[in-house]
Amino acid sequence: MTNPPFSFSGQHVFVAGGTSGINLGIAQAFARAGARVSVMSRSPDKVQQAEASLQALGAQALGISADVRDAAAVQAALTQAHAQFGPIDVLVSGAAGNFIAPAKDLSANGFKTVVDIDLNGTFHVLRMAYPLLRKPGASVISISAPQGVNPTMYQVHACAAKAGIDMMTRVLALEWGEVGVRVNAISPGPIADTEGMRRLAPSPEALQRATDTVPLQRMGSLDDVAHMALFLSSPLASYVTGAIIPVDGGAALRGGRDMRASYVPRAEA
Ligand code: COA
Ligand code: NAP
Repeated sequence: MTNPPFSFSGQHVFVAGGTSGINLGIAQAFARAGARVSVMSRSPDKVQQAEASLQALGAQALGISADVRDAAAVQAALTQAHAQFGPIDVLVSGAAGNFIAPAKDLSANGFKTVVDIDLNGTFHVLRMAYPLLRKPGASVISISAPQGVNPTMYQVHACAAKAGIDMMTRVLALEWGEVGVRVNAISPGPIADTEGMRRLAPSPEALQRATDTVPLQRMGSLDDVAHMALFLSSPLASYVTGAIIPVDGGAALRGGRDMRASYVPRAEA
């Protein structure tokens, strides 16, 4: 993206899980649009590289290492970011983990791990950020997925977690509307060159199948998703809250993708 369509000059954008893929694309789009950007994830190396990439775009940037499953660590990270850049104008919660697994072979800890990262992690991020959000005016965006609405075989963990995020989005839109905080979610379709697609479409054939299910007949780009985050956080979206917005080329209209042919048992992977 060369010409950002909106200016976020001086605003503080915090992106949980913002050190790679779709979420880093969002962080970079806000950096290009003039925001001060905080990103948080587990890996200190990824945090450091993401911070440097945001600074290379001319933004004031802060990277913090923390695990969204640890509510106290999330609170400490948000407090550190608030101390550096002030009230949070835009909060993005996008940390997630996923893999293809049939429910009958998924351990209790495998299911719990994905729900802990995606769903409980999103609650931690939104809940701990609440006192630090700009009120009125803040835009909260969670990153969902088509699995939140489409039953998808071999994705019971992600389906349950993302459906929970969708409902959390609606409930918090109800609760936080009265203080002028808008709460929305973006549901990306298959996005090219991401870890999510490497895991869910791990072969050229699987990638082709994924592309074929998209009515617009192409994979999405990082910018496709980032542009929606910019729009949702701009004055143009000031009456939009409680929405779960697909950015998927229409893919969700076809229902859940069939992951069975893409599944490789771990012993063979
Ligand atoms: N199939 C089935 N179960 C799996 C699995 C797979 N491919 N990968 C991990 N698990 C299970 C593990 O076996 C373990 O359960 P167990 O203790 O009963 O054996 C459980 O999940 C936790 O695995 P672990 O590797 O300890 O978790 P972690 O906290 O280190 O990592 C993951 C979390 C598993 C989600 C890891 O893949 C990750 O960090 N993902 C982040 C990146 C990502 O997924 N990006 C795409 C986003 S859409
Ligand atoms: P990704 O690059 O793996 O991004 C995941 C991010 O979350 C990374 O920055 C990762 O960094 C961080 N993270 C993971 N576990 C974490 C934890 N426990 N605590 C803190 N941070 C954690 O994957 P992606 O494909 O871009 O996916 C990004 C988001 O888009 C996810 O919410 C995913 O569900 C959603 N999505 C993706 C697609 C797609 O096509 N890729 C489609 C629909 C929805 P660390 O490893 O350093 O923690």
